This record gives sequence, structure tokens and C-alpha cells, in this order.
Amino acid sequence: MLRNKRILLVISGGIAAYKSLELIRLLRERGASVRCVMTEAACEFVTPLSVSALSEDKAYCDLFSLTDESEMGHIRLSREADLLVVAPATANILAKMAGGTCDDLASTVLLATDKDVLAAPAMNVRMWTHPATTANVSRLRNHGVRFAGPTEGPMACGEFGEGRMAEPDQIVAEIERYFGRSGLLAGRQAIVTSGPTHEAIDPVRYIANRSSGKQGHAIAAAISQCGADTLLVTGPSLEPDPAGVKVVHIESAREMHDACVAHLPVDVAVCAAAVADWRPAHDQPQKIKKTSGNPLSQLELTENPDILAAIAGAGEKRPKLVIGFAAETEDIVAHATEKLARKGCDWMLANDVSCGTDTFGGDFNEIHLVSKNGVENWPAMSKSGVADQLASRICNALSPGQDAAE
Ligand code: PMT
Repeated sequence: MLRNKRILLVISGGIAAYKSLELIRLLRERGASVRCVMTEAACEFVTPLSVSALSEDKAYCDLFSLTDESEMGHIRLSREADLLVVAPATANILAKMAGGTCDDLASTVLLATDKDVLAAPAMNVRMWTHPATTANVSRLRNHGVRFAGPTEGPMACGEFGEGRMAEPDQIVAEIERYFGRSGLLAGRQAIVTSGPTHEAIDPVRYIANRSSGKQGHAIAAAISQCGADTLLVTGPSLEPDPAGVKVVHIESAREMHDACVAHLPVDVAVCAAAVADWRPAHDQPQKIKKTSGNPLSQLELTENPDILAAIAGAGEKRPKLVIGFAAETEDIVAHATEKLARKGCDWMLANDVSCGTDTFGGDFNEIHLVSKNGVENWPAMSKSGVADQLASRICNALSPGQDAAE
């Protein structure tokens, strides 16, 4: 499964470094070659000798080693790999990666790489849940870094909680999933919509909603990582453009509609945007004046075009797979089932957006996938987890011999 894959394993300094030895063994057993970079702290937990013996290669530790640099410069180290794996990834190395610090060989290699990075965090539960780590992880996800774990359980420090490094076999499974999937959508075209739309009331005011774009952007990144030529059409969002994805920035529902329709035909469309259902009926070229004692009592609205329904009803240009999201606050599955039929799409991913769920703007989501085959309930997970799971489902659905909508 991993035959001829070149893994550059960055081992940073945590007690979980002992598990990296098993990780090297498992990867090599599956046919991968493993080259290791160790931080100074990692060498306190496991020796370069053990790492070198198991990888049957040199263990690279020093940025300023004349021999290492002349044999294999740090730029080559970072480029001559198919995937970089950081295991264990301590809070310190995650902070360096998020901030672009490079003060040793490991962090320099991670900054210099043009390859994907998979990190397996390992740290005390308080360090993992600290807002600084949360912010670093979120930033790294936005840079396209993938994560395996951490898991929950008793820790070496005596505490219990989330922060344990994923087991070596789980990390290997994640690596296999990465290689198994990459390229599965090669040659395919995708459109993803994301974020809110802004509907102008006048030149300075607008109607909007709380969508952040996190879910849609994560989906565009995940589909693109599977090899699809992906267009992300997004409303105003603070999320950075995902790497490798073409992005069209729009403001209004009509602009989103026009950008999507102009890009058809594609193989798959995922409408994750929270499109405003209505917009002010009349264009207001001037700012509406506040007249004291006479508040604006009426704003005439008109319906926006339904982008999902337009894509699903595009006749010969209809994608093989059309996927919508249903943002619901009650009777979630029933409403999603009705929307699936009304909008003519193949799958509807229903999510609870009632007060307190934090789905709009938050980092997590809980999905009920509604299709003609029934309902599948996914556990609550990160939005990038939802994106990965959806991307895998799309890969299966579009694989040769499959009926896409099944
Ligand atoms: O952006 P985040 O903060 O990460 O939050 C993610 C999310 C909650 C916005 C996302 O998961 C989600 O639920 N998106 C759909 C929100 C929505 O508008 O739902 P809806 O039930 O009103 O619309 C149903 C479907 O029709 C959606 O796929 C929507 O994109 C589409 N639609 C709706 C109206 C319209 N005029 N055109 C559309 O294409």
C-alpha cells in the first residue's frame, strides 16, 4: 500500500517519541522508505542510533552540520519526500510551524517544504486545550496541514484527557488514506460554494448571516487534495484561500449564482454557502438617510436565485453529483428530506444550527447525510473531519462503475 512512498518523519521532543520507533517499523513494513529528522529535545527521548537503525538511514539532527548539509541539504530533505509526518508533534513545534519560525533543522525543513504535512499532536491535555495551541492548530489547518489525533486517555504526566499521540497503526492508516485518496479525483472538476452572501441595502449597509466559510473552505481543500480541479465560489469570509484551489470572491447571491453557472459543467458541486434567501427589492445608489422620529419601517425584499436548484436543474450540464447543506433549527432530517426533493439534489447534509450548537462560525459540525437511500448520522467532528469524510464519499461515488447518487 505504501510501496515506494517516501516519508520524511520529523520527531520532536515528547515522551510519545518512543512510539515513533514503532511508526518507522510499520511504515517500512508497508514498503515506504522513511528518512528521519530529529529535534534536539527528541534526542533526549530516543537516540539517533535507534532511529537510524530502524530507518536504515541517517538520522538528521543538526542544521549546521557540514557533513549533513553537503550530503543532503535541508532544502533537498524537505523536497525529496512524498509526505512529511510530524510525530510526535509537540505544542512547541506546532507553534513554530504556525508562526513560521525556523531555528533548527526540523522547523526549517517544515518551512521549506512544498509537500503536504501530517501532524500527530502529543502533549498534556492543558497544553492541547490552551487557546494558543487551539489557534495554532486552526492556523495550520488553514495552511493545509492535516492532523492524526490526538486521542483521549491516561497520560504519561498522570493526567487524563485529550492530547495522547494517536497510536502508530492509526497514523499509518491516516497516511494510507492520504495516499489512497490522492489522485482519486484526478481529471474531475468540482465547484464548492462557501460563506455568507451580503445583500446591499444601500452603499453602506447589507443583509448577511453568521456563516464563516470554515465548512465550505475545508470541503474545497479536501476535494482538491483528492486531485479534483476545484473552483471555490465564496462570499465574504476571513478564511484564507485554500492552497491549490481556484477562488472566486463574490458578495451577493446573484454574483455567486452567475459564477457557478458560468463554470458548469463539472462532475460534482457542493453548496455549503449560506446564501441569503432574500435581497432588498430596489437598488439604492445613495445611503438611506436616517430621519429622526421616522425609523425605516419597511424594507421591501425579493427572492434570490436558488443556486443549488439551478445547478441541480442544469440539464445536460448537471453535475453527476449535486450536494447541498440544510441548515436547520428543528425537525432537522424531515426538513432536509423535503429540501433534497425540492431542490433536486442527490445528497443533503443536514446540520443543526440552532442556538448553542455553534455550527455557524464554530469549528465543529454534526451531519445527517440524507439521500434517496435514507439517512446516515455522522458523529460530531471538526469541520475538516466532515470535509475529509465527504471527500472520501465523493471519491467512492465517482469511482468507475458507481452510480454517483447512490
Ligand atoms: O460557514 P460556517 O461558519 O463554517 O458554517 C457552515 C454552514 C452552517 C453555513 C454550512 O454547514 C451550511 O449549513 N450551509 C448551508 C446554509 C444554508 O443556507 O442552508 P439552507 O437550508 O438555507 O439552504 C439549503 C441549500 O440551498 C444550501 O446548500 C444552500 O447553499 C443552498 N441555497 C440556498 C438558498 C439559495 N438562494 N441558494 C442556494 O444555493
